[in-house]
Amino acid sequence: MARPRTNQLLTGLALLGAALAIAAPMSGCRGDRTDARPRRILPDMDKQPKWKPQSETEFFALQDGSSRTQRVPEAGTIAFGRRSFDPATYGAEAWAAGYMTERSSFLADDDAFFRGREPGGGPDDFLDVMPVEVTPEMLALGREKFNINCVACHGYVGDGQGMVAKAGMTPIPANFHDPKYTDRSQRTAKDGYIYDVVRNGLWNEITGANRMPAYGHNVTPEETWAIIAYIRALQASQSMAIDSPAIPESARAELLRRRPEPAPAEDGGES
Ligand code: HEC
Repeated sequence: MARPRTNQLLTGLALLGAALAIAAPMSGCRGDRTDARPRRILPDMDKQPKWKPQSETEFFALQDGSSRTQRVPEAGTIAFGRRSFDPATYGAEAWAAGYMTERSSFLADDDAFFRGREPGGGPDDFLDVMPVEVTPEMLALGREKFNINCVACHGYVGDGQGMVAKAGMTPIPANFHDPKYTDRSQRTAKDGYIYDVVRNGLWNEITGANRMPAYGHNVTPEETWAIIAYIRALQASQSMAIDSPAIPESARAELLRRRPEPAPAEDGGES
């Protein structure tokens, strides 16, 4: 069985070789052969007519009597992502809200959502609170992405005790239950700051050495906010007393039911 197939293949290759042998000299019959680099097999499309911006042409003269190379958009159209959009003029119209959202993500021009900064603010104006609504679905997404991207170093409960940390990583991965990350009056505890760390990583400002890799290539802005929401849930899960007023009355019984049994006391064990 194998032999006839091999023969067919060899015949095919021989025909292809013959075709190339004929075609190659033909493509060189243009009188513009040169041995100079770069070598071009088919030079046809190397040089094409084009217009530079802000230059003159008669090409459109019949169409609108102008001699501009640049075209004026049709009346009533808005060039997407290229022209400023005036909400004062269009804001009240029904389509405008959707357009604004679409456009802002196209241009990533929403400082809060895409950079974790106050709109129009400086590099250090981190948002205190994330600009997106927290929902149960979002928290589930945050848990998934946190478990994929962060636990290796920061641990499943965010205490900085992941496998990589246990293997001796330096610097030591952050423990998210440290007041540095829970006390919102501190810069490092702001949602916008954590957003920035996830997307761009951490760097030693003097030596330029990397302190934590960036994860912006691996998680979208939406997923980054979800991870932060999940970190907040982890922080609450490790610090909140069962009688805290922050826990809804309806959830308390269920939480008590699910609470793990305390480990049996051993002599000489932890007190
Ligand atoms: C490869 C290990 C590693 C992974 C994975 C990792 N981190 Fe880190 N992270 C570190 C280390 C190490 C530090 C501490 C750096 C330092 O103190 O110089 C740190 C610090 C931080 C800090 C504190 C920043 C500060 O200025 O104090 C935050 C917040 C953080 N990480 C969030 C995350 C999140 C969220 C993820 C997942 C998207 C993540 N990290 C994934 C290693 C990691």
